[in-house]
Amino acid sequence: MRVPLVFAASILLACAPAASSGRLVMSAAPIIIAHRGASGHLPEHTLEAYDLAITMGADFIEPDVVSTKDGVLVTRHENEIGSTTNVAAHFPDRKRTVVVDGDTITGWFVEDLTLAELRQVRAKERLPQRSHANDGKFLVPTLDEVLALVRRREKETGRTIGVYPETKHPTFFRSIGLPLEDRLLGVLGAHGFRGRDDAVFIQSFEVGNLRALKARTPIRLIQLINDGGVSPETGGRPYADLVTPAGLRDVATYAFGIGPAKALVQPVGRDGSLGEATTLVRDAHAAGLAVHVWTLRSDAMFLPKAYHGDAGAEWRRFAALGVDGMFGDFADDGVRALRGSATR
Ligand code: G3P
Ligand code: CA
Repeated sequence: MRVPLVFAASILLACAPAASSGRLVMSAAPIIIAHRGASGHLPEHTLEAYDLAITMGADFIEPDVVSTKDGVLVTRHENEIGSTTNVAAHFPDRKRTVVVDGDTITGWFVEDLTLAELRQVRAKERLPQRSHANDGKFLVPTLDEVLALVRRREKETGRTIGVYPETKHPTFFRSIGLPLEDRLLGVLGAHGFRGRDDAVFIQSFEVGNLRALKARTPIRLIQLINDGGVSPETGGRPYADLVTPAGLRDVATYAFGIGPAKALVQPVGRDGSLGEATTLVRDAHAAGLAVHVWTLRSDAMFLPKAYHGDAGAEWRRFAALGVDGMFGDFADDGVRALRGSATR
C-alpha cells in the first residue's frame, strides 16, 4: 500500500497522522521519529525495535543505512558492527583497523561481510545501562525487510508510517566501491517511497551527497547538523556556517529541512540547567526549512537535570520551541508527552 503525505501550502508545518484516513496530513504537531527504532527498549536497528516503535505510535521510524560486502543495504548506526552485534564470536579473524571519515577505528566492519555471513550474526544492546535481555536474539535487517515491515504494519493498523533513512558515511562507502545512494533510492522505490509527498525523508551529515540526491529524486532531504565540527567529506562545510541565516538559505536550495543536534536549539549548561533558546528554529523557518532535532533520551544519564527526571518535559519543551519533529530513543515517552497516551 502506498499512502501519500498530503501537504498544505506551508512546508513549515509538521506532519501528524490522521488515524482513520491512513494518510498523513499537515498539522502544527511535531512528528515523533523513533530513533533507531524503539532503541531505548530493544537493541537498536532491529526489526523488533522498529516494530515496537510503530506499536508505540511513532510517526516515523529511523533506519541508519550501511552496505554489506555484496552491496545489500542493512541497518546499523556505523559500519563498525562489533559494538552492536556478536560478530566477534562468529568472525574473529575479520577484526581490522580502518580509517573512516578521518577516524582510525579497530573492529569488525559490515563491508567485510556478505549478507549471507551477516545472517549468522545477532544484534546486541550498545549501552551498558539499558536492558541486555535480548542480546543475541535479533538479526541485522536489510532495509528491504524494514520497508516490508512498514508496509505490513500500515495494512494492519490503517496508519501511515513514515521512514527516515540516513546514509551513513556515504563518502567512505563510495570510496570502497559501495555507494549507498542509488541502492537506497532503488529499495525505497521498490516499496513505493519515491515521491515528494511520500512518507519518507532522506537524511545525511554530508552536504555533497544530499546535493547529488537533490538532482536525482524528489524525496525530501534533511541536512543533519552537528554541534560543531565539519561535514565529513572532502571540502567539508563547517556546521557553524550552515546554521547562519546565509548558510540556512543555501541549505534550502537542496533540502526540505535541517536535523540539528538539540543543543543547537536548546543549549544546556554544564550543571544541567537550560540556557536561553537559540534563534535557530526561527531562522530555519525564515529560510523555508523544517527543523527536526535529535536526540531525546529518557535515560537518567542523558536527560538534562533541568527536566527533573520527567522525560516528557523535554519533548514538551522542544514542541514549545516550535520544532517540526523530534528524534527520540523512547518514542513512547514522546507519544505520551505530546498526545496523551502510548501503547506498549
Ligand atoms: O539522524 C538523526 C540522528 O540520528 C543523528 O545522529 O548519530 O544517532 O545517527 P545519529
Ligand atoms: Ca541517525
